[in-house]
Amino acid sequence: MASYGPAQASPDQQSKGKVIVVCSASGGMGRSSVTLNLAALAARQSVKVDVIDGDLQFGDLALSLNLRPSLSIEEAAERKDVSNIREYCIAHESGLQLLAAPSRPEFADLVSPEFVTSVLEELSRDSGAVILETQAGLNEDNLQFMELADSIIVVASTGMAAIKNTKLMIETIKALGMKEKVIVVVNKCTDLP
Ligand SMILES: Nc1ncnc2c1ncn2[C@@H]1O[C@H](COP(=O)(O)OP(=O)(O)OP(=O)(O)O)[C@@H](O)[C@H]1O
Ligand SMILES: [Mg+2]
Repeated sequence: MASYGPAQASPDQQSKGKVIVVCSASGGMGRSSVTLNLAALAARQSVKVDVIDGDLQFGDLALSLNLRPSLSIEEAAERKDVSNIREYCIAHESGLQLLAAPSRPEFADLVSPEFVTSVLEELSRDSGAVILETQAGLNEDNLQFMELADSIIVVASTGMAAIKNTKLMIETIKALGMKEKVIVVVNKCTDLP
């Protein structure tokens, strides 16, 4: 993970964990798979890694990890409890810590983008990397998280619509001055020659 971030960061910046946002133009492209595989790989390399399920309505990272968290980002948001955010995380055997999505879609609105941003900042204070899976698509919330990120992973897959929408998404991110942060991961491309 040492290659992430600006080449000449200040000492304070160097001591903070890298914030990585994993997004995609539409659903099902592989954000969760990329998020969890990247986190597990980082954990295996002894990086302290936190994962936030920012797919607030239908996040399924806990399910994917076979975890049953008793707390999630929803309870933390309701209590406005950023300083104790690690108490809302659940450990996975791979070494990563997960802050799960709300248990039901109707609770998503209880979690503001400002709260997610605060959590990203808080976790990165004593973490090697914080990886956020966003909701699919481009919206104000996702752009706010991208602004904060050191790296933006845009997950793409094959198919005409997927490629067209991913291209539009990357163009928009570039137009907003975040070109240098973008890493494109083309997933599900085993059919390519
Ligand atoms: N490289 C791959 N090869 C085969 N299947 C894959 C691959 N990547 C992801 N999948 C499968 O595709 C489906 C969608 O993947 P995933 O959940 O990672 O995407 P997502 O972008 O997070 O989706 P969602 O929008 O539902 O959150 C899952 O069933 C997953 O197992
Ligand atoms: Mg997902």
